[in-house]
Amino acid sequence: MKKLVAFAVIAGLACAGQALGHEGEHHHHHDGKMAKTHEIMSHYATSQAKITAALEKRDAATVAKETNYLLSTGKELKSAQPHKGQNDLKKFRELAGQFQSDVKTTAALAASGDFKKAKEAFAAAQGRCTACHAQYRD
Ligand code: HEC
Repeated sequence: MKKLVAFAVIAGLACAGQALGHEGEHHHHHDGKMAKTHEIMSHYATSQAKITAALEKRDAATVAKETNYLLSTGKELKSAQPHKGQNDLKKFRELAGQFQSDVKTTAALAASGDFKKAKEAFAAAQGRCTACHAQYRD
């Protein structure tokens, strides 16, 4: 459970207007925000598995649904503060942005029916998962 404490949402950014259900919460409710980010990360693992399987089956609908989910968390991921590596949050946000960009490419290629290239794009996205965890995950 120590992973649970690894994310602290930067209050200012979190308040910058994301429709994430935090509206009306007070800034000091960090526990709720950390729990939320933790929950999102475990959904990432599920989503990753579903996308990998769907790309194999050429199931564009599932790829669209799951990539939409990942893209919907982009702003929250960027505004998250990891427990580790806090001295380089710029890089964290860059990796989050690159991850989102690779996921967008995956979605577009799968939608166009190019599953071979979509798999390559998703492999690149998963490289961002690994790169970010290497530097920022406890
Ligand atoms: C920009 C950084 C970043 C990216 C990209 C990223 N993660 Fe994470 N992930 C983290 C951090 C930081 C933690 C540890 C903090 C935490 O657990 O709340 C984490 C934790 C996790 C965990 C552990 C569960 C948990 O809540 O601690 C899983 C599983 C996970 N990530 C899966 C993924 C998968 C799969 C991808 C890609 C599809 C991904 N992550 C992409 C930063 C990232």
